[in-house]
Amino acid sequence: MKKIIAFTLLSTLYLSCDSSQKNANKDSLQVAKLAIEEVPASDSLTIDLLDLRDRGLLKATQVVSIKPDPVYHKNKRFNALSLKGILEKYSSINRMNANDLKVVFECEDGYKPEMPLEILLSANAFLAVNDVDAPKGRDWEILLKNGQESKIEPFYVVYEGVSGDDVSYKWPYNLVKIHLAPLHENDKALKPKDKSTLVGYEIFKNRCQTCHAINKIGGKMGPELNYPKSVTEYWKTDDLKAFIQNPASYRNNVKMPTLGIKPEEANEIVKYLSYMSEHKL
Ligand code: HEC
Repeated sequence: MKKIIAFTLLSTLYLSCDSSQKNANKDSLQVAKLAIEEVPASDSLTIDLLDLRDRGLLKATQVVSIKPDPVYHKNKRFNALSLKGILEKYSSINRMNANDLKVVFECEDGYKPEMPLEILLSANAFLAVNDVDAPKGRDWEILLKNGQESKIEPFYVVYEGVSGDDVSYKWPYNLVKIHLAPLHENDKALKPKDKSTLVGYEIFKNRCQTCHAINKIGGKMGPELNYPKSVTEYWKTDDLKAFIQNPASYRNNVKMPTLGIKPEEANEIVKYLSYMSEHKL
């Protein structure tokens, strides 16, 4: 595990890290700063949004208009605050190499999308705290997905002037935490040494890891696919490829979306999954 050490802040904001740091009070900040200078490997940070909200630090400052909103599929307005503004409060980010960082969004339902920090900072990104057009008594307009209500609260990341079709931008809702971590943090554990499975790895990283873990690394919305037993060990290969392309043809009320994976891509993914079945934890 990478150590999460940086935590001094410009304002009253502070982030929740490990328990010793959590106990840090103002008097010990000076000591902490000194300690940070001595430990140059500060390369990750966790922002607990619920904690910040509970301390009154996430008040909306403006109304943003999203035309059209890619989650609701219509024009929307939200009360929001600048995401860049929140990140700028963390002086430790300045000590890290921004070009080499990614933002990992942690959603309550286990969804865990990520994107390079550089891309986020170059856009007008906002943390939406509630929906201007929500019906009376509610913070958010109801969003139905496959007939079921999706939980948008507590936070939703939106962008002004970015198309929902641009897959480099993530629009997580039901968001509770933001992590900053090295861009290639998981390569050591998950990148195959066998070059013939690299294509499958890239597809998996971009399309599947938001919901699925391999060797305990990745999203939790769907099941872990490698540990202790790899899906390649209990699925027939042809079925596995077909499932990946069209999960609904296998399971009623399936939660995994049809992602538009092509047959060649399914082949590559399964090649990678088979390789990982021989490289378990
Ligand atoms: C939005 C989240 C999401 C994404 C993205 C996603 N999955 Fe899934 N996946 C799920 C969920 C949830 C399930 C559990 C299926 C169910 O019963 O509804 C699942 C099930 C599976 C299973 C069956 C596991 C088992 O033990 O039977 C496989 C295999 C699988 N996914 C592979 C993939 C691959 C490969 C990708 C990328 C191309 C992918 N998934 C992308 C959510 C996702």
